[in-house]
Amino acid sequence: MKSLKLNGRDIGYEDFGQGRPLLLVHGFPLDHTMWSEQHPLASERVRVIAPDLPGFGRSSLRGDVVTMEQFADDLAGLLDALGVAEPIVLCGLSMGGYIAFQFWRKYAARLGAMILCDTRAATDSPDAATGRRVMAERVQREGPAPLIDSMLPRVLGATTQRERPQLVESLRGVMMSNPPRGIAAAARGMAERPDMTAALAEIRCPTLVVVGAEDAASPPAEVRAMAQSIPGARYIEVPAAGHLSPLENPAAFNAAVTEFLEEVAKRH
Ligand code: MLT
Repeated sequence: MKSLKLNGRDIGYEDFGQGRPLLLVHGFPLDHTMWSEQHPLASERVRVIAPDLPGFGRSSLRGDVVTMEQFADDLAGLLDALGVAEPIVLCGLSMGGYIAFQFWRKYAARLGAMILCDTRAATDSPDAATGRRVMAERVQREGPAPLIDSMLPRVLGATTQRERPQLVESLRGVMMSNPPRGIAAAARGMAERPDMTAALAEIRCPTLVVVGAEDAASPPAEVRAMAQSIPGARYIEVPAAGHLSPLENPAAFNAAVTEFLEEVAKRH
């Protein structure tokens, strides 16, 4: 894994392949390793860049609240530091999707295309936002185990839970390895994220929307409605996968992304 300093803080990231940059932005409370099944997407035409967001994995903490906009700013800073000037394909899962929306809002000119995975445009209800803030305090006091115990059954599809106990345990390990302050800061940032529903109609870049057919956290019906609000967006349901579709069914996910990237390449 590589690392660099951004505004005095460490950012860890993977960076391989050549060609159009595909920036992979992980979900909560994970790190860049959630994309390990997407490494085959790197080629002579695709450069995969997969960072750890600040406060996760090998990247330093950024503060006690990190907004989705601040994460997006750091992604733009990382691209600058890597000398990436050409338009990127930004692929974000769940929290990574919330960040993708903020990246689009601030840095649309840097965006050649977007892949929104298992994510939502709506913000939290007031109760859900309060619940996140309460959980953030608890994670800092007691560590992430209670959060992870409540999240894992919700983010993994029924097929994965039944058939892939090793994947469940390895994800628990990744989540447990993240620092409680980083998890809490991102949870607080998610609680104050803006509602992007009304902005969907203004998205102009080619967009692929992907959701696991068994996703209970961002249910297919809601994600399909989001896709229908984005002009020209393509929508794909990944079978036998829950909220973490890229790692629950990588073959189907990668096939959808490959086809989309080929389509995007033809347009440019
Ligand atoms: C994620 O996978 O990033 C989370 O489900 C996001 C969230 O808690 O809203």
